[in-house]
Amino acid sequence: MEREKTGIPGLDELIQGGIPKGSISLVSGSPGTGKSILSQQFLREGVKNQDQRCLYISFEEEPNSIIKQAKGFGWDFKELQASQKLKIIYNDITKRTLDENETYIDIIKGQIERYDPDRLVIDSLTPLSNFPVSFEELSQYGLATDFDRFSPIGIQQDLLIRLQMHKLINAVRSEECTSILISEIKKNSKWMSADHVTEFLSDNVLLLKYPGGNIKRTLKVEKMRSTDHYEDEAAMDITEDGIQVEKIEEQFK
Ligand SMILES: Nc1ncnc2c1ncn2[C@@H]1O[C@H](COP(=O)(O)OP(=O)(O)OP(=O)(O)O)[C@@H](O)[C@H]1O
Ligand SMILES: [Mg+2]
Repeated sequence: MEREKTGIPGLDELIQGGIPKGSISLVSGSPGTGKSILSQQFLREGVKNQDQRCLYISFEEEPNSIIKQAKGFGWDFKELQASQKLKIIYNDITKRTLDENETYIDIIKGQIERYDPDRLVIDSLTPLSNFPVSFEELSQYGLATDFDRFSPIGIQQDLLIRLQMHKLINAVRSEECTSILISEIKKNSKWMSADHVTEFLSDNVLLLKYPGGNIKRTLKVEKMRSTDHYEDEAAMDITEDGIQVEKIEEQFK
């Protein structure tokens, strides 16, 4: 199996040498746990050391803020952009109005197709799981009948979200790049994504935690399809060079 080096010191050793090429990884955690930094480091590895085309689709932060954060770790994203190997696209959901029958999934699919990246990050899925799906769309998938249209109960909201995420994952999968999808969850959430379904649809799941105070950050590989992986929480640090991960036993050796 071909694998992609993540660029995060210590992480590849937990997953038999790297993320399976072409797979979809969900990276989830509560605010400030390091999801964006981890994915920026993954893209930087692609551009700098693997000569790959990398695409960062942001729904959260503007490119300038992403560039500034990367600079804090000594990563010159401006220069990487100028080399045409890194592209940062910001979809501002508060400004953009969708055309009739257009969805954000169509927009993302178009953005991926146009750039044709080897590595992709979507930061984050959370705003997408808040967009409603039309009745017509649900009917197309056989998920709603005329009865539902007039039902006083209405169509279940979580069904709409699941459908939306299914479509998104299918769209990403068809582009055959190695991708990271970010999801924000609340501290101590029993779910691993905001939509409660992406963790089942993704090939891999990395869960980041930061209880705060003196307690260490952790990264846990919750699942990695077709790969044996370290099953405990690993210690994670954010240093001036970015994120690094270490098996916890080793720290006490
Ligand atoms: N230069 C740095 N050195 C050490 N730690 C840093 C540095 N820059 C940021 N951090 C830490 O990283 C955290 C932010 O990481 P990041 O932006 O990746 O979080 P996130 O999980 O994407 O959060 P959100 O869900 O809010 O987008 C900060 O709260 C801070 O603790
Ligand atoms: Mg973030």
